[in-house]
Amino acid sequence: MKLVKLNNELEIPVVGSGTNTYGKEDNAFKGELRGDTQEIDWAIENGYRHFDSAQVYANEEVVGKGLNQSDLKREDYFITTKLNTNKGFAGHDWITAEIEKSLEKLQTDYIDLFLIHFPWDNSDEIVEVWRVLEEYYNRGVFKSIGVSNFEEKHLDPILQNGTVKPDVNQIESHVGKWNDALIDYNKSNDIATVAWSPLAGIDEDAKQVLQEIGDRYGKTYAQVVLRYQIERDVIVIPKSHNKEHQAQSLDIFDFELTADDRQRIADL
Ligand SMILES: NC(=O)c1ccc[n+]([C@@H]2O[C@H](COP(=O)([O-])OP(=O)(O)OC[C@H]3O[C@@H](n4cnc5c(N)ncnc54)[C@H](OP(=O)(O)O)[C@@H]3O)[C@@H](O)[C@H]2O)c1
Repeated sequence: MKLVKLNNELEIPVVGSGTNTYGKEDNAFKGELRGDTQEIDWAIENGYRHFDSAQVYANEEVVGKGLNQSDLKREDYFITTKLNTNKGFAGHDWITAEIEKSLEKLQTDYIDLFLIHFPWDNSDEIVEVWRVLEEYYNRGVFKSIGVSNFEEKHLDPILQNGTVKPDVNQIESHVGKWNDALIDYNKSNDIATVAWSPLAGIDEDAKQVLQEIGDRYGKTYAQVVLRYQIERDVIVIPKSHNKEHQAQSLDIFDFELTADDRQRIADL
């Protein structure tokens, strides 16, 4: 597994597992928890060592249980979770209570990467939340910290006022919405990009182009698109309820796209 070094030297596996519907009835985002950890178990068996969770997914306990009951040691895997800022900011005590709940549900005493999930329209409040993340980072409870869905205008106040630089910005990036300008902005500030929904946006025409490329390497259209992202140092977190698909998304380290392939993919 290729690792990406974050700006604080922590290493993150370049392919992680999305989890937002794992353990839920009908694989539905709003589904009730089924009580088993099937998809996490498969992911571990397939070799995933990076798991992307979030408070808003309401299934951190599924991720925590799956990992905790596996044979893996804590230092063998990387967990991300995110503060639910869907409704903005609700005070210092709210943040610390939410963090404690995440630690408990994930059955761990530290989190490898902790993100502010969504920006909102108040940069002073965003900086206030960032300072709490910095406290946890300085205590070693968070090994790295970052943001998600932040644009330049949201990141700038943190870059100007923070004492710890964000390690990661997790953003939407896939066929039809690569978000190249923001990825470049992240890169120019030494912030790694994680692409969410990396397999979205692939219509039949795009699939045909990607599969044509994949056929030359014995790879699927999904493997080609994930490879495209990791070749430009974008970390990906595909999610699948199919064990074989999970395995395929990890099996992308034995081929290399040509400049022409990359251009065709960029143009999709
Ligand atoms: N930060 C944020 O605001 C944010 C927002 C959205 C998502 N996320 C994170 O990003 C993760 C991934 O995004 P996502 O769940 O929306 O979608 P995704 O991973 O882009 O795509 C999932 C879809 O792709 C299929 N798939 C997965 N692997 C495949 C493969 N190898 N070959 C063919 N098809 C494959 C799955 O179907 P099968 O199940 O049939 O394989 C499913 O329909 C989420 O789980 C979550 O952790 C974060």
